[in-house]
Amino acid sequence: MAEKIVVCGIAGSLRAGSFNKMLLRAARELAPEGMEIRPFERLAEVPLYDGDLEAKGVPEPVQALKRSVREAAAVLVCTPEYNWSVPGVLKNAIDWASRPAAETPFARKPVAILGASPGAVGTARAQQHLRLVLASNGALVLPGPEVLVARCQEKFDASGKLADEATRKFVSRLLQALGEAARRAG
Ligand code: FNR
Repeated sequence: MAEKIVVCGIAGSLRAGSFNKMLLRAARELAPEGMEIRPFERLAEVPLYDGDLEAKGVPEPVQALKRSVREAAAVLVCTPEYNWSVPGVLKNAIDWASRPAAETPFARKPVAILGASPGAVGTARAQQHLRLVLASNGALVLPGPEVLVARCQEKFDASGKLADEATRKFVSRLLQALGEAARRAG
């Protein structure tokens, strides 16, 4: 039997009712056989990046994030879109994790991006920016299939489950591709 693939899942929103957290939960449910998605749940504890703070020692939640990414075979990022870009909390966490540049845990790491928004383009602009940020870390960001969950309030049911069949298929295909990329990279 093929070895289990551990994926670090990051949802770039702090709020409890986040659609992107729901999307990450859906991905965990839809993960193919042999893949386990472990959510990184300490984003709220990551302080604002400050070089002086870093010089005193990397904060423990940042160390935990770096460890989660490093030890995973791949990463899955569910990003919201804020002002056509990546939310500050997510960018901030990646900035911390990217230091020092020579040791970023994202280097050569297969990464899949997806995102949900109530808007019409389903985080397409944020995903482009996130792709660039991760590329600067040497991450192997999957070109697709793109998962743009537009009008997301219509796609989850009252319990937070991803109810839209077409979206569930897109998420499954992305996870399949991420699994293949992780096997190739490993
Ligand atoms: C937004 N939102 C938003 N949506 C979008 O599609 N494009 C955008 O540029 C923005 N800009 C934006 C800025 C700020 C500051 C906020 C707070 C929100 C709406 C956003 O997609 C919506 O709040 C989502 O529900 C956020 O994701 P979570 O928290 O549900 O995961």
